[in-house]
Amino acid sequence: MERTFVMIKPDGVQRGIVGTIISRLEAKGLKLVAAQFTTLSEEKVMEHYAEHVEKPFFPSLKAYVMSGPVLTMVWEGGDAIAIVRRLVGATNPAEAAPGTIRGDMGMETGKNVIHASDAPESAAREIGIHFAEEELVTYTRIDESVLY
Ligand code: PPS
Repeated sequence: MERTFVMIKPDGVQRGIVGTIISRLEAKGLKLVAAQFTTLSEEKVMEHYAEHVEKPFFPSLKAYVMSGPVLTMVWEGGDAIAIVRRLVGATNPAEAAPGTIRGDMGMETGKNVIHASDAPESAAREIGIHFAEEELVTYTRIDESVLY
């Protein structure tokens, strides 16, 4: 089983599509093991997006992700990191395939609804930034024996 970090960004929260997004991940077969509504501190944004702080878009990215509450989550499942990235779609919603979250629900990169970890290393790092190990719950989905 793999864990991945997912964040519904302020535009996703403000547009009332949190439930729709969670439903898509649940319907796929992924298991929600942690969730928190929070407004990100500047410190957390700098840590989370550390590899992008020198990029020209970073000031607008920082202002955007701090502009309102976000829903941070950890999702679990076989191959969860790659599966969630495919469900999320391309970074630019204008190029994201129909059927993906960004393809169906976003309009531009500056407000692209959702973040998801792109690799095992970044997933572990991002989960560690946003959650303490004891905040991740353990339970069995009733359909696990059918899913796997
Ligand atoms: S790069 O340079 O290719 O590594 O960057 P990229 O992977 O495309 O994007 C990294 C994250 O920055 C976000 N991004 C932006 N946010 C706001 N405004 C602009 N112009 C912008 N350009 C890129 C992009 O959505 C990525 O964030 P996450 O949360 O990881 O999707």
